[in-house]
Amino acid sequence: MTFARIAGTGGYLPERVLTNKDLEQMVDTTDEWIRERSGIKRRHIAAEGENTSDMGVNAAKKAIEAADLDASEIDLIIVATTTPDKVFPSTACIVQRKLGLKTIPAFDVHAACSGFIYALDIANRFIATGGARTALIIGSETYSRILDWTDRSTCVLFGDGAGAVVLRASNEAGVFSTHIHSEGEFEELLHVPAGISSGYDVVQQEAAFIQMKGSEVFRKAVATLGSIARETLVGNNVEQDDIAWLVPHQANLRIITAAAKKLGLPMERVIVTVDEHANTSSASIPLALDVAIRDGRIKRGELLLFEAFGAGFTWGSALVRY
Ligand code: COA
Repeated sequence: MTFARIAGTGGYLPERVLTNKDLEQMVDTTDEWIRERSGIKRRHIAAEGENTSDMGVNAAKKAIEAADLDASEIDLIIVATTTPDKVFPSTACIVQRKLGLKTIPAFDVHAACSGFIYALDIANRFIATGGARTALIIGSETYSRILDWTDRSTCVLFGDGAGAVVLRASNEAGVFSTHIHSEGEFEELLHVPAGISSGYDVVQQEAAFIQMKGSEVFRKAVATLGSIARETLVGNNVEQDDIAWLVPHQANLRIITAAAKKLGLPMERVIVTVDEHANTSSASIPLALDVAIRDGRIKRGELLLFEAFGAGFTWGSALVRY
């Protein structure tokens, strides 16, 4: 059997840090409110001219180096993003050019905050069926560009960044299973209303920014993450005690804590970066994974559970032996 195995990870955060104290100067909020309700202390903000592809390339270079391979061995690029550089071509094609890679398939996946799990699901299927041997998957987002910086209910929650993972075909266990879902009926609880087919003219007006019914999203996220975790454990005949680390999407510390509790996992076995990164959407899981691999918490051979929830709604999970 051929598995997709994590060969290397990389992360990138823009230089500029925006603290809760900084936000106190911008909207009617407090450091205390943001930390209590979300666990967030600071977030990184992309520089002017720094785009989703630039951040993705920076993360990818680190992942390629960590995987100890020549970039020319990559035969598939998938970029998960909801904040592409352009309407088209895909950000994946721009990343391909910037990495100097020729003619391999490259495409974007759009599943909001679940984007990385969707990309992992697709890359895993490519590798398992022999369609690729070395896949580069990237989650990269510049949410600072779709935030209304006068709306305190959303602008305090998000940040920019990118994470990347190189997956290689291997006989050794890697990705055991992926589970992805969506429920489009909840479209308007979390969305950026402006679009292409619905009219360019609204861009830069209110409809071009994130709008969210926070408490409804919160309730649905907690309930859904509990069921997706169960689905993964049952599907693989695995107990929660077998999981070394939960690497969840980093939206809100209260959502992460509630999901870990439902799963019966102590917070000591949960990777948390939301305090430092805020919600970086599809970049959050690969960024958190990279942080915990580089600081030595996640070790080779350990069993990891990824879980994500986002606009759509979309959600997903993956069980992976690192
Ligand atoms: N600073 C201070 N007060 C704020 C605020 C801010 N930044 N944002 C909202 N408030 C106020 C609200 O206006 C409200 O005031 P009111 O009671 O006078 O109307 C009050 O705080 C409580 O708002 P509420 O929405 O009930 O708070 P909450 O406990 O649900 O926390 C969120 C708000 C957004 C942090 C929380 O709902 C959440 O995290 N939701 C999920 C968001 C998310 O993760 N989305 C992405 C999913 S991928």
